[in-house]
Amino acid sequence: MNALLSKHFKPCPDPELQTLKMRLDPARIPAHVAIIMDGNGRWAHAKGRDRLLGHWEGYRTLQKIVAASDALGVQNLTVFGFSTENWRRPETEVGGLMHLMQAAMSAEIEALVRSHVRILVTGRLDELPESLRETFENAMRRTAGFGGLTFNLAINYGGRAEIADAARELAKAVQRGEIDPADITESHLSARMYAPDLPDPDLLIRTAGEMRISNFLLWGVAYSEMYVTPTLWPDFTPTHLVEALEEYARRTRKFGAVAAPEHTLGH
Ligand code: FPP
Repeated sequence: MNALLSKHFKPCPDPELQTLKMRLDPARIPAHVAIIMDGNGRWAHAKGRDRLLGHWEGYRTLQKIVAASDALGVQNLTVFGFSTENWRRPETEVGGLMHLMQAAMSAEIEALVRSHVRILVTGRLDELPESLRETFENAMRRTAGFGGLTFNLAINYGGRAEIADAARELAKAVQRGEIDPADITESHLSARMYAPDLPDPDLLIRTAGEMRISNFLLWGVAYSEMYVTPTLWPDFTPTHLVEALEEYARRTRKFGAVAAPEHTLGH
């Protein structure tokens, strides 16, 4: 039995997750799921509460979805935590989000270490408050060698910024005489994205119904399957995640070609 299958059939401690897992074909679980966690503000507004309460509920959802992704056999999970455009929000909301991210990472780090989750935080981290940047860097250092789920938090992340940063690095390599511009291929840029060892996302989930990419993972989502649900992020549960994975398993991926056995789902 290969490692993927043995992981699939290993019972997980949570009986609810175990039941959900049995709905999935292990050969059709996406290796990389990316999520635009949208709708925290609307969730709070509908309850007459402050937007920040919506973000704290969003954090609770994220805890469950990280654990569920790991248990279900998703190898890589990327979530959009804070975009390069989110600085335009009111100062109180931006400050509240920075505080939430710091509190969340400090509260979760030991459990993530115990679960052998590898943490990545990708984006322009040098523009974050120093203590938050240090918290993220410490989490990455402590989990760097782990082989469980890779949990990639996109923070102060922008898809165009990532491509511009990769282009700058490539230009420096050209300037140093390491690469001839005539030889540049897509793989030279891929290798300079923020998390080059992650495969491109197979499945991009967006909650709260908007039909937009919103500057998320622009390079990597070229052939990702999209799944948009009206469910607001704080209401999104592991059952909703499994529904998205089931829908993904029904899709035929063509990567611009015609459907052929090598282009069907699987690894
Ligand atoms: C989008 O909802 C959500 C965000 C900009 C922040 C996401 C943050 C969390 C899920 C909290 C946990 C995060 C970490 C990294 C611990 P929105 O505010 O745009 O919602 P709206 O469109 O309904 O206003």
